[in-house]
Amino acid sequence: MKKPLLFAKELVREVLTPGDIAVDATCGNGHDTLFLAELVGPEGKVFAFDIQQEAILSTQKKLEAAQLSERVELLNTSHANEAFWPPAPLQAVMFNLGYLPGGDHEVITQPKSTVAALQIAVTRLQPGGIITLVVYTGHDGGEEELEAVRNFCTKLPQKEYAVLEYKFINQINRPPLLLAIQRLTKPTK
Ligand SMILES: C[S@@+](CC[C@H](N)C(=O)[O-])C[C@H]1O[C@@H](n2cnc3c(N)ncnc32)[C@H](O)[C@@H]1O
Repeated sequence: MKKPLLFAKELVREVLTPGDIAVDATCGNGHDTLFLAELVGPEGKVFAFDIQQEAILSTQKKLEAAQLSERVELLNTSHANEAFWPPAPLQAVMFNLGYLPGGDHEVITQPKSTVAALQIAVTRLQPGGIITLVVYTGHDGGEEELEAVRNFCTKLPQKEYAVLEYKFINQINRPPLLLAIQRLTKPTK
């Protein structure tokens, strides 16, 4: 069985095709940005947010090494900043919540801004498009963020969105979990 982040990538890989537009809402060290940039191809575009310049620089370095910088717009601002989001339609949006690995563990994603960004993402998602959220609860504030995100997700109308929660339930130390939202291609009756 796949870990939540790998499963998130699997879901994105199924729907994201060359020419599409994707968002990495928390680029961190750039692993997911690079993954998205490979999938959208030269005609597509990835918009990658992070509030920490350190993260933006780390992502930039990774993209340059892979010669994929041209496919990515790096945005050193909060994902709650709606003016910086690309207009619809989006085919994939990835959130990897918590703190920057190897960085300042005090700088964490926050329930209010995460939910604000999610609100933007769901409205711009095109039918068939996917949002993935890998959520960590092992740090202070993690449980509160999960509660806020889960609360948002469970209220999405089932005729328009399919939502799943994927987690290992027999692991110690509060392992990460995945929430995924897909905009349905046809509203269900
Ligand atoms: C778990 S890390 C992301 C890891 C990343 N996906 C990777 O592949 O390395 C979470 C990131 O979210 C960023 N972050 C925190 N609040 C944010 C916000 N409001 N908008 C955008 N990024 C934010 C942090 O700076 C941190 O780099």
